[in-house]
Amino acid sequence: MTIQTIKTAPIEGQKPGTSGLRKKTRVFAEPGYLENYVQAIFDAIEPAGKTYVVGGDGRYFNDRAIATILRMAAANGVAKVIVGQGGILSTPAASHLIRLNETDGGLILSASHNPGGEDGDFGLKYNIANGGPAPEAITDAIFANTRTITRYKITDEDAPGIDAIGTFSMGNMEVAVVDPVTDYAALMETLFDFPAIAKLIAGGFRLRFDAMHAVTGPYATEILENRLGAAKGSVVNGVPSPDFGGGHPDPNPVWAKVLMDHMFADDAPDFGAASDGDGDRNMIVGRGVYVTPSDSLAVLAANAHLAPGYRDGIKGIARSMPTSGAADRVAQAMGVECHQTPTGWKFFGTLLDAGRATICGEESAGTGSNHVREKDGLWAVLLWLNILAVKKQSVAEIMDAHWQMYGRTYYSRHDYEEVDAEVAGEIMSDLSDKLDDLGGTKAAGLVVADAEDFDYVDPVDGSTATSQGIILNFEGGARAVLRLSGTGTAGATIRLYLENHVEPEGDLGMDPSVALAPVAEAADALSGLKERTGRAGPDVVT
Ligand code: G1P
Ligand code: ZN
Repeated sequence: MTIQTIKTAPIEGQKPGTSGLRKKTRVFAEPGYLENYVQAIFDAIEPAGKTYVVGGDGRYFNDRAIATILRMAAANGVAKVIVGQGGILSTPAASHLIRLNETDGGLILSASHNPGGEDGDFGLKYNIANGGPAPEAITDAIFANTRTITRYKITDEDAPGIDAIGTFSMGNMEVAVVDPVTDYAALMETLFDFPAIAKLIAGGFRLRFDAMHAVTGPYATEILENRLGAAKGSVVNGVPSPDFGGGHPDPNPVWAKVLMDHMFADDAPDFGAASDGDGDRNMIVGRGVYVTPSDSLAVLAANAHLAPGYRDGIKGIARSMPTSGAADRVAQAMGVECHQTPTGWKFFGTLLDAGRATICGEESAGTGSNHVREKDGLWAVLLWLNILAVKKQSVAEIMDAHWQMYGRTYYSRHDYEEVDAEVAGEIMSDLSDKLDDLGGTKAAGLVVADAEDFDYVDPVDGSTATSQGIILNFEGGARAVLRLSGTGTAGATIRLYLENHVEPEGDLGMDPSVALAPVAEAADALSGLKERTGRAGPDVVT
C-alpha cells in the first residue's frame, strides 16, 4: 500500500457554525471535493491510531464516498474503521455504534431529509466520541482547514468490498463490516417493553410505518415486523433506494402526504409513523389525528416513565428555542430542569452528557434521549408504542388527556424558501435593530410583550451562540420566532414559527391555522416578511 499526497486547493462550501457539509451531490462528486473535506476533518482531529465508525443513509454516492473515506483513513494512519454492511447506518445507529464500541468518533454520510440522487443533495458530518455532532470548536477548525488546505492523503489501494460482513485490512488499518441493525435493535429492546408492545399488536392494533425509501426500512422491518409481530407490509417503502424513490424523505404532513391520507381514511390503522433519509426524524400520526413534533416531545416526556428504560423518571427536558413551550409545562409539573437551546441537535450533547436532560426535541420532527447523542426516529415510534401499550388508549385520547391537563399549545411552522439571501438577511437585521422598541406595539390585534434576539450560554460548558433567531412574545401567551435556516442548499430559507397557548379551560379543539392566524399576521406586520420577499405566503406549512 502506497500513500499518495495529492495537491489540492481550498473548497467553498461549509457554512460556519453548521455541523457538517451539505451540498449538491454533483458538487460532492467533483474530483477532490469530498477528499478535501475529509482531509479537513482529519487534519482537525489527529486520527492516527484511532478508531472511527463510518456509514450513511444509502443515498446516491454513499458507496463511492465510503470507499474514498476508507482509502483516506488508511493513508491518515487510522487504526480501525467500523462500517455498516453495504455502507448503511442510520444516524442514530451510527451514534450508538460510536458509543457502544467506545470509538473516537464517526463519519456520517447523509443530507438528512433532503432529496438524494445524482441531482439531489449529499452530506458528510463528523461526530465525536460521545456519539453526537461535533461541537462548534471542532467544526470551526474543520471549516478553517477547508480554507487553507493544500494536500490530501489517500492510498493507491482500493477499499475492500463492504457488502459482506467480515474483517478486512488495508495496510495497517482494520475494516470491520458489521450488520447495521443488530446492535441498534438490541439497544431498543433494553429501553422498551417489547412483550407489552407485541401483546398490543397481537390484540389487533394496526400500524403503518413509512420508511420513505430511506435508511430506516431495514431497522423498522426487523423491529416492528420481525420482533414485535406487526403484519408483513406494515413497513412501507422499506427498501432504501439511492434517490429515495424520487421522493423527499422528510416526515411531515407535506412530504409524507400518502401516509397522512392513509391515517385520515375510513379504514385507517391505529398508528402511523414515518422517518427521514437518515432515520433521525419522526412523524407521529394517530387515526385521524396528527401529532405536532412539539406536542409529541411533551407527551413523550410526560409518559417516558412508562417505558423500562426511563422507569426512574427523567432528569430534565431540553428543547430547541423555536420548539413550542408545551414541554416546558410538563417539566414544570414534574419539577425537572427545562432547557431552551439553539436549533440543532449538537446543543443537547453537553446537557445529555452532564445528566441534566434525559429527553430532547426539536419542532422539526426530532426527538430523542440520552440513549444516543442524535435524535432518533424509531426510538420515538417505539416510545409512543410503549405508551400506547401501557395506557391502552388511542393516540387521540392521549392527546386530549394531555391537553386537558397542561393546556394546548397550537403550533405551526411557515417556511419561505429560496429567498434572495441578501433580502433575507435584511429582513432579519432590520427586525433585530428595532427589537428594543417593539414592547407595547400593536400588530394584527396582538400586543408585543417583549422581543429578543436569542443568545445562548451553555449551562454546562459556558460556550456561547449568539443571534440564533428573533423571538416575539405577545401578551396572552402567543409567540412568533423568525430565523434563517442553516441547512438549505439554495438561497436562504426564512422560517417563521408560530405558537399560541390555550389553558385547559379554553378552546382545545380549534383548527390550528385559525388559532395561529393572528400570530402569523402580527409577525408579518412587524417584519414585512411577505412584502419584502414578494411572496403571497409561505412555500411550506408544517
Ligand atoms: C433544520 C431544523 C433543525 C434541525 C436541522 C438538522 O435546520 O430546523 O431543527 O436540527 O434541520 O436536521 P434549519 O434548516 O432550520 O437550520
Ligand atoms: Zn435526518
